[in-house]
Amino acid sequence: MQDRLLLVDDDSSLLKLLAIRLEAEGFDVETAESAELALQAMRNAPADLIVTDLRMEGASGLELFEQVRHFYPGLPVIIMSAQGTIPEAVSATQKGVFEFLTKPVDKTRLLATIRAALMQSGGQQSEIFEDWREHIVTHSSAMERILNQVKQIAGSDVSVLITGDSGTGKELLARAIHEADAQRQGPLVAVNCGALPEQLLESELFGHVKGAFTGAISEHGGLFRAANGGTLLLDEIGDMPPPLQVKLLRALQERRIRPIGSTESIPVDVRIISATNRDLDRDMHDGLFREDLFYRLNVVNLHLPTLAERVEDIPLLANHFLRKTGAYQMGNVSSFAPGAMEVMISASWPGNVRQLENVVQRSAALSTTPVIPDSLVREALTVEDHFLPSLSQAREQFEHDYLVKVLRLTNGSVAEAAQLAQRNRTDFYKLLKRQNINPERFKNRA
Ligand SMILES: Nc1ncnc2c1ncn2[C@@H]1O[C@H](COP(=O)(O)OP(=O)(O)OP(=O)(O)O)[C@@H](O)[C@H]1O
Ligand SMILES: [Mg+2]
Repeated sequence: MQDRLLLVDDDSSLLKLLAIRLEAEGFDVETAESAELALQAMRNAPADLIVTDLRMEGASGLELFEQVRHFYPGLPVIIMSAQGTIPEAVSATQKGVFEFLTKPVDKTRLLATIRAALMQSGGQQSEIFEDWREHIVTHSSAMERILNQVKQIAGSDVSVLITGDSGTGKELLARAIHEADAQRQGPLVAVNCGALPEQLLESELFGHVKGAFTGAISEHGGLFRAANGGTLLLDEIGDMPPPLQVKLLRALQERRIRPIGSTESIPVDVRIISATNRDLDRDMHDGLFREDLFYRLNVVNLHLPTLAERVEDIPLLANHFLRKTGAYQMGNVSSFAPGAMEVMISASWPGNVRQLENVVQRSAALSTTPVIPDSLVREALTVEDHFLPSLSQAREQFEHDYLVKVLRLTNGSVAEAAQLAQRNRTDFYKLLKRQNINPERFKNRA
């Protein structure tokens, strides 16, 4: 098998030139015009070696190296840069960059360096990559059980439903499942099913042809096709509007999609991971979620425990998040006082890991001493503010709660509820539909 090289440079003509030369030497060459695109390319198909420019728009070659070292330890990285960057070169090679070459890069020298690097690393890193779970910080046995399950299902394409409270790490786990599948060819594409109105979500998922509806000025491929050969993450699946649930079910059964406005269906090969913090059992019972779709999606269920259910992870996670803060990296803070850790261990964490991350960030930022005192952590925990949902999340939540309230007051009579809310019935129905609320739920529960 050919060794795979990933070339990264924001100078596209240089990139092409180098690619052609290296391909002529028998390498399988992939190119990327930024560090971000390079990481994406790595996720799709890991290379055996990376050659990157130092200074680029966005993240630099060194930052790319840091990321790569994290995800793919041992993968050799060669950095190219203009002259006059000797100090950077020295610190880079100390950090583990294989070699620092100055531009214009001499072809023979580059080839020799690439061969030496591949020889040293043994090449073909792609096969031994097993760091899919590296982002998931845990030593709880409940989490270990989940990760073991992930390993077992990694190679298959069974549908996985991830459930768990907000902030427990559902999205993180979904990404790990995708990473764990060494056979995957395509990318992971994520969509938040609660964030878009029905029509838009439909065209996002399935695509549309040109002129399919007003505003469809060009063809749109859709996320199913974008995820072909990879994974489609249907986040907040519980918020998917019922009419779309039918269409999704059909797509999953037939493994084909039909773009809006098209008469032909297209075969797709995607692994489906869905995630929700809603109680789908209740939603099914209330007629808000289709049972047949549920069974399609829930072939394997991974349920993430709340943070309070895995207190053993709290110190580990707190230190992990602390090390990621600016205050720590600048040397302003170094650790938590034992009392501070105790406060965190006994807190209730309604916002789970995400809230812990916020509390750590806040107390680290506010600390005036290297050891973060318990008072700051306590404050960060009690100040309601720092567990802030986004404005649109807050609005959605308010709207949902409001609608439920008026429906309760009126025993599910939409006419009366609409009147109370000072909306006409059509509008009110739309709101209910958007929020996935079935007024029947509120009828006479005497
Ligand atoms: N085990 C973990 N190790 C490290 N970071 C974690 C872990 N679990 C969660 N996180 C971090 O906590 C935050 C929330 O995680 P994530 O977005 O995956 O949660 P979620 O369950 O999808 O939340 P929501 O239901 O609100 O969408 C992220 O920043 C994520 O990186
Ligand atoms: Mg999420």
